[in-house]
Amino acid sequence: MTQPAIHICTNPAAIAEAVARRWAALSATAIAERGFFHVALAGGSTPRLLYQTLASPAWRDDIDWSRLHVFFGDERSVPPEHPDSNYRMARESLLDHVPIPSDQIHRMKGEQRPLETAAATYAACLETLLPHPKQDAPCFDLILLGLGPDGHVASLFPDTAILHERERWVAPVYVDKLHTWRLSVTFPVLNQARHVLLLVAGDAKRPIVNAVLAEEDAEPRYPVQMIQPQGELAWYLDEAAAADLPSSRHL
Ligand code: 6PG
Repeated sequence: MTQPAIHICTNPAAIAEAVARRWAALSATAIAERGFFHVALAGGSTPRLLYQTLASPAWRDDIDWSRLHVFFGDERSVPPEHPDSNYRMARESLLDHVPIPSDQIHRMKGEQRPLETAAATYAACLETLLPHPKQDAPCFDLILLGLGPDGHVASLFPDTAILHERERWVAPVYVDKLHTWRLSVTFPVLNQARHVLLLVAGDAKRPIVNAVLAEEDAEPRYPVQMIQPQGELAWYLDEAAAADLPSSRHL
């Protein structure tokens, strides 16, 4: 398994600054080379500070938002104004505060039923807007991910059939432990990306960080270990989450 780059930052604000710096650099390169920057946002709570940082005067004006297309790695099965909506969190912390054209924001329609239709529609949107060489999965310039305490990323939860999905690029998944349906991109999309950045903060994530990074596993035990992109995979951890890592794992 290719070893990911490990960046250990002082605190969540330092993660946000470091990833905002990468976002600015990666978007400038993508726009210069291909005309657009295609990025999939992460949900949950960790990325909120990054999104607020990107929307701050320190970073907002360094990014050409007119050349960005923003997508989502997953979404809850709720309407866009629901408190649990990943789109709502991104809209409130970032999208409402930067000059990105509204038709370049591509929301997963978690409220749509059946969810299979929402998944197929989103996959068609990815196929239309993203490069996908040789009928491979669509290629994002950047996919942002958080990490659940059980090792899930996006809505790719342990012991769910979606972990083995290799045909569909987006699929619905029922998450038993949460008693809810989700929509998520699948591993073919995650592993086609040029850059995958994982944002992990807080001491509650220390056990999963140790389980994944401190031990060398021959076979993936957690969904996060199934991310093996053709491009870069980098972890951005704060000191609380990385406290038990051996110094050899620090960059
Ligand atoms: C979601 C995310 C999910 C999240 C992790 C970590 O929709 O919730 O896609 O994968 O990134 O659960 O969540 P926190 O950042 O809130 O710890």
